[in-house]
Amino acid sequence: MSTVIHTENLTKTYESAFGGQDVHALKSMSFEVQSGEIFGYLGPNGSGKTTTIKMLLGLIFPTSGKIRILGSEDITSNHIRMNIGYLPEGAYYPDFLRGEEILKYYGQLYGLSGADLRNRIDAVIDLVGMSHARKRLMRGYSKGMRQRIGLAQALISDPKILILDEPTTGLDPIARKEIRDILARLRDEGKTLMISSHELMEVELISNRISIIYEGDMKVHGTIDELLVDREVVVEVTDLDEPGAKQLEERGLTLEDAISGRARVRVPEGMDVYNAIEICRSAGARIGSIAPRRETLEELFVRVVGGASRAKAEKAA
Ligand SMILES: Nc1ncnc2c1ncn2[C@@H]1O[C@H](COP(=O)(O)OP(=O)(O)O)[C@@H](O)[C@H]1O
Ligand SMILES: [Mg+2]
Repeated sequence: MSTVIHTENLTKTYESAFGGQDVHALKSMSFEVQSGEIFGYLGPNGSGKTTTIKMLLGLIFPTSGKIRILGSEDITSNHIRMNIGYLPEGAYYPDFLRGEEILKYYGQLYGLSGADLRNRIDAVIDLVGMSHARKRLMRGYSKGMRQRIGLAQALISDPKILILDEPTTGLDPIARKEIRDILARLRDEGKTLMISSHELMEVELISNRISIIYEGDMKVHGTIDELLVDREVVVEVTDLDEPGAKQLEERGLTLEDAISGRARVRVPEGMDVYNAIEICRSAGARIGSIAPRRETLEELFVRVVGGASRAKAEKAA
């Protein structure tokens, strides 16, 4: 495995034009993206994701810090440009063009022409599952289809790296799944992907590694397996009546999704599972299943960022 994207103490300050306050969009960002992985770059709106991405692409300049892509610090060179595919946040393509015309346009921007261009368009349009609709106007595409054309556009130069800014935001669950499947396939074919999102669960499903950033600082960094440990056990029960439910809660168990006698019973960290099962039984419930429950990325995020905003509030007070 080799390092494909490397950033070191990257900062970006947007200076105010009219004597207002400068925006410290990125404070000191250091991370690495390894070849062949999906790197999830997560954080709420305004945390600095797009700023980072634009600096990686050479669209804006860092205030300080270093960027190395494919081993080179000359990130605007032709070699690097050809090897980064980019899907901007909320990408817009003219309604009156056909899907394949958009790809032709972008292919030409990359210097492709003739049979090479035609072959590349066929390949990417097939990869994103849009062959059947390639001659239709963008106007008639669903949001998911537009986004798939956006992905095809990012792939037109057959880049090693794909940088996708919020690629699934605003899509319905089926379209999201389709995009996720394509992204996972691209990874399996050897591409390196950096995907930003403010919707954590979205990326958790396919990322190998993630960073969670907040107000320009990195708060969490690691593999999903490192970060999300099994924190508690969940027992699914049936035949639970109201007095029984009350009994469980009195003895320190938490009920989730309790509906018509069914419930998920969360066993807190530190409580013996056998003990919890005994409590359920004595409350008259039947045990359906027992399984460890992982903390979700969203819970981790709230834990970490909740801590950060509390610390800030305390400092301000
Ligand atoms: N061109 C700009 N000028 C001034 N402030 C900006 C500019 N672009 C972004 N910002 C500010 O920088 C911060 C980070 O923005 P951004 O990188 O777009 O975050 P994200 O993509 O995570 O939503 C925000 O506070 C945003 O308002
Ligand atoms: Mg953004």
